[in-house]
Amino acid sequence: MTNNQSYGKTAIVLHWFTALLIVLVIPLAWIMGSLERGPLSAALFDWHKSIGFSILLLTALRLVSRLISGVPPAPENTPAVINKISGLIHLALYALLFAIPLVGWAMVSAAGHPLVYLGLWQLPDFVAKDHALHETLGDVHETLAYVLLALVALHAAAALKHHFIQRDDVLTRMMPSLRKR
Ligand code: HEM
Ligand code: HEM
Repeated sequence: MTNNQSYGKTAIVLHWFTALLIVLVIPLAWIMGSLERGPLSAALFDWHKSIGFSILLLTALRLVSRLISGVPPAPENTPAVINKISGLIHLALYALLFAIPLVGWAMVSAAGHPLVYLGLWQLPDFVAKDHALHETLGDVHETLAYVLLALVALHAAAALKHHFIQRDDVLTRMMPSLRKR
């Protein structure tokens, strides 16, 4: 359960697992895009699609867990305007964690290369095959992914500033293992 000192266990596990998948999915996209088309690039595309879709599922789970358990109060030592900006960045991160995989799913539908989740379940195409739409969605997918990267960098820098400069408990609430006994 969430309390004043910490996020709940579920929120913490989902946060760091999602962060790990982001760290995998973006370099995977760069590598798959740089290879000649063939069995290896096809396998990496499939992994990118499945890991990306897992991020969507984990984010949905995370929002449900957030609604049930709540979040710790905003840090007291930080000006209200900064807490407001931090809240808006969290909102934008959630929006991107939904939008990027959904645009990816629409993109592969428009390309006629459906998403087969973990090689097991073929997900329905939800837009018709359309080359121009595929190209446009590809551009949107890429742009949103780079906005996500920029916001994550800002977000991580803010967390580190709290920990090393303000020396408060903002990072330890999301990473209790750092807390001094
Ligand atoms: C949060 C999840 C995801 C992130 C952060 C992400 C990120 C990226 C990035 C950075 C690229 C490279 C863009 C470029 O430089 O051209 C890319 C390409 C691609 N992504 Fe994703 N992606 C995610 C989820 C998905 C999902 C769920 C699918 C499909 C179901 C998908 C399908 C693709 C495809 C097909 C490409 C290649 C596009 C092209 O060749 O033009 N992605 N993705
Ligand atoms: C890599 C991708 C990451 C994503 C997508 C992400 C996303 C998020 C989101 C959406 C929240 C809000 C949670 C909520 O209130 O429901 C959050 C909280 C938090 N994240 Fe991240 N995060 C990432 C990486 C990191 C990293 C690398 C750090 C540390 C260096 C970090 C530290 C934190 C902390 C300390 C909080 C709690 C902030 C607070 O209590 O106000 N995150 N993260």
